[in-house]
Amino acid sequence: MQSLMQKLTPSLRADRVNPELMRLINTILDASKDIAISVSQGALAGILGSTQHENVQGETQKKLDVIANQIIKDALLKNPQVRALASEEEDDVVAGSPTGAYVVAFDPLDGSSNIDINGQIGTIFTIYKARNDVPANSELQFQQQGKQQVCAGYVLYGASTLLVITTGGPTRCFTLDSKSNQFLLTVPELAIAKDTQEFAVNMANQRFWNSRFKDYISDLISGETGIRKKRFNMRWNAAMVGDVHRLLIRGGIFMYPSDSRDPKQPAKLRLLYEANPMAMLVENAGGKAFNESERILDIVPTTLHQRVPVIMGSANEVDSCLIYLR
Ligand code: AHG
Ligand code: MN
Ligand code: MN
Repeated sequence: MQSLMQKLTPSLRADRVNPELMRLINTILDASKDIAISVSQGALAGILGSTQHENVQGETQKKLDVIANQIIKDALLKNPQVRALASEEEDDVVAGSPTGAYVVAFDPLDGSSNIDINGQIGTIFTIYKARNDVPANSELQFQQQGKQQVCAGYVLYGASTLLVITTGGPTRCFTLDSKSNQFLLTVPELAIAKDTQEFAVNMANQRFWNSRFKDYISDLISGETGIRKKRFNMRWNAAMVGDVHRLLIRGGIFMYPSDSRDPKQPAKLRLLYEANPMAMLVENAGGKAFNESERILDIVPTTLHQRVPVIMGSANEVDSCLIYLR
């Protein structure tokens, strides 16, 4: 069975990925394989628990946030194709090689609250072409619209370690074969169902939502007795990678809307290394991805760690949600 499955390089060659970009993707994936080993060793590898540090987002870093960031950063800085990198766990842009053709942004460990409970966690990454008109360490390297991404992906450290990736063509899924240590193609083209009966949202934030979003969720919850005339189920992994993976496989809608919890921070998820790569993966699998009014991939970023509301998944359900928000 395994020998029939395609390895990563020939699959991406079919998507016309050039050799430099291919090597860069492999740099990220080699780092993710090291992270996967630490994740599977868990307490035995001393990766559980917190550090005493806060990152630029004001969140206390977990040990694995720091370890995963260091593994990916060290690997990327050794690759001469990397002009610059940006990470959730780095305050500023980190310059790489002045002649590198690409810049890379990543969330080294998404779903940090799941680390200590042996839940789903992952690494999210995105690659853009480097800009020659600004210095390597300039934030402007990353102020590109999501539609300019040349590659987006995540590695999900779950029951299996999976890679979900697009380089502009289809969104493909690979499974890490622990015997050969290779990612093997297991779903050549993910296709998100247009309709769904599953939604993912943190219901504990309900009182902080605007009334239009409250109405939408309340109509989902009313089920077959309400205006939607069908029963919905709620699922929440507390890790965007897990929730987005669920909807890529089963259909669904994932939402982290704006809220009034903290006026300084009206949204939670970060545009550069969470919303944009996930939006590209979702769109290339036939789904939709919006903030509350516009396509996420059209947003022109203004700051490195900028946050955005996120509504993504099954196309018809995203449309239904947006009608309420208009
Ligand atoms: P991170 O672990 O990289 O900080 O991201 C966590 C994000 C995202 O993965 C998830 O969807 C969301 O935060 C969970 O939010 P709640 O704490 O509201 O459940
Ligand atoms: Mn995250
Ligand atoms: Mn993170």
